[in-house]
Amino acid sequence: MERFAQRWNELVRARLDELEALRPGGGPSSSSFWEARADQLAARMSDADADAPLLAPLVAALEPTDTVIDVGAGTGRFTLAVAPHVAEVVAVDPSEAMLEHLREAAARRDITNVRYERARWEDATPRGDVVVCGYVLPLISDVAPFVRRLDAAARQQAFIYLSGTLPDVCHAPFWQHFRGQPRAPAPTYLDALAVLQEQGLAPIPRIVEAPVRARFADLDEAVSDFRENLMLSETDEVVGELTDLLAAWLVDTGDGRLRPPFATLPVAILSWTAR
Ligand SMILES: C[S@@+](CC[C@H](N)C(=O)[O-])C[C@H]1O[C@@H](n2cnc3c(N)ncnc32)[C@H](O)[C@@H]1O
Repeated sequence: MERFAQRWNELVRARLDELEALRPGGGPSSSSFWEARADQLAARMSDADADAPLLAPLVAALEPTDTVIDVGAGTGRFTLAVAPHVAEVVAVDPSEAMLEHLREAAARRDITNVRYERARWEDATPRGDVVVCGYVLPLISDVAPFVRRLDAAARQQAFIYLSGTLPDVCHAPFWQHFRGQPRAPAPTYLDALAVLQEQGLAPIPRIVEAPVRARFADLDEAVSDFRENLMLSETDEVVGELTDLLAAWLVDTGDGRLRPPFATLPVAILSWTAR
């Protein structure tokens, strides 16, 4: 395996193994992990403006006759935003719960030009003019064939989105507190750049500041969200301690909800012209 793909593989495997040890069969490689997160992701979709800095370079690359492939579409923030600008979007995701949220959201907006493909990208076959893959790459250990497939599927341009900072920036202090050691480090966008270059691609990196979308109706909702993300058990002791820590850390949004104390965080957009 090439050097940077090997490094990526080792980093992702260590993180997947860490979660697998805490919840056997329930980590991000399982469908149950994403089924449980679909409602949470869908709830964050209501604030569409938050994605504006991410969408601008993508929308600028589109023609009205284009087909866009959204790889790991989730509840569809990219699919729904680009659908009005193009002929068709193919939303690929292995999670039925995610795709169901996306179908409902598309119907609410009278969007009818989305094709849904329930599959892992590794097993999917669509081709399009532009391929977009947001917040999926750091879940994929076998990264080289995955990005080659992104490139092969795109007739014109491909876009990868991932955190422009450490992806655990919100959860890291809590992980350290409850587990007594740091979470295994994730690959960063610099690792992604190195992997893409190693595959002979010529990505252009862009960093944008994007509003943090996490919002919690109240402290109980925040505790439940963090407990799930940190894979902590629901004991009175854990819930009490997490409640105290989050009460001190979260800030008021001004409309009665709570959010992490970062208004924005950097997001990396890596785009390239398909070969
Ligand atoms: C963090 S969500 C990102 C969703 C969306 N792209 C966004 O930015 O809001 C990750 C998504 O990747 C999907 N996923 C996980 N493994 C995948 C794979 N091998 N191929 C395609 N999608 C995958 C999950 O089901 C989930 O919907």
